[in-house]
Amino acid sequence: MKYYLLFGPPGAGKGTQAKLLVEKYNFHHVSTGDLLRKEIAKGTELGLKAKSLIDAGNFVDDAIVVGMIGSEIANNPEVGGFLFDGFPRTVAQAEILDQMLQKQGKSVDKVISIIISDEMVFERIQHRANIEGRKDDADPKTIQNRIDTYHAKTEPLIEYYKPQGKYNEICGVGTIEEIFAKISEVL
Ligand code: AP5
Ligand code: MG
Repeated sequence: MKYYLLFGPPGAGKGTQAKLLVEKYNFHHVSTGDLLRKEIAKGTELGLKAKSLIDAGNFVDDAIVVGMIGSEIANNPEVGGFLFDGFPRTVAQAEILDQMLQKQGKSVDKVISIIISDEMVFERIQHRANIEGRKDDADPKTIQNRIDTYHAKTEPLIEYYKPQGKYNEICGVGTIEEIFAKISEVL
C-alpha cells in the first residue's frame, strides 16, 4: 500500500488535482475537509463540534481528524493507494500518522506540495466562494485566518518531511493540466 500526501495552502488546488489523480492512479482520495463538511451536513455530534471551528477558519482537534484517517485506512484495505488531502496539517498529526503506518510496516511515500502566494490564495478562494458556497470562503477575515494558520501550523511540516527525502514542491501557478503533468512526473 502506498501513502501519498497532497500538501499546500488553502485554495492551492489540492482538491482539483486529487480528482484527476484518482482517475489516473486509482487512489483513494481522503480530504479531511470534505469528510468534516459531510459530518456537518449530516448534523452528527462530530459535525456540530467541528462547525464553528471550520466556519471561523480554525483547525479542528488533532484527535478528531486522526480518528477519521484511521477509519479510512481500516475500511479501505483494497484500494490502489491513499491520497491524503489536507492531512496531516500539524507536526503532531504527522507524528501520529507515522506511528499508525509504522504498525503496518509502512510509511508516507511522497509529499506533493502545491505552492501559491497568499495573494493567489485570496483570488482563488474568492472565486470559489461564488461557486461552492463554503462558509469559510465567504469572509476575507476568515480567509486571512486560514492563511495565517497555514503558515504557523502547517508550513513547519515542510522541514519535517524534507530531511526524510519525501518532500516534492510544485509551483501551483499555471493551468490545471500543467500542474497535473508536473505532479504525474513526481509520482
Ligand atoms: P479543506 O477543505 O482542506 O480546505 P483548505 O485546506 O483550506 O483547502 P481548500 O479545500 O480550500 O483548497 P484546495 O487546495 O483543495 O483548492 P481547490 O482545488 O478547491 O479544510 C477546511 C477546514 O477543515 C480547515 O480550515 C480546518 O478547519 C478543517 N480541517 C481540514 N483538515 C484538517 C486537519 N487535518 N486538521 C485540522 N483541521 C482540519 O481549488 C481552489 C479554487 O481554485 C477552485 O475554485 C479551483 O477551481 C481553482 N483552481 C484550482 N487549480 C487552479 C489553477 N491551476 N488555476 C486556476 N484556478 C484553479
Ligand atoms: Mg480542498
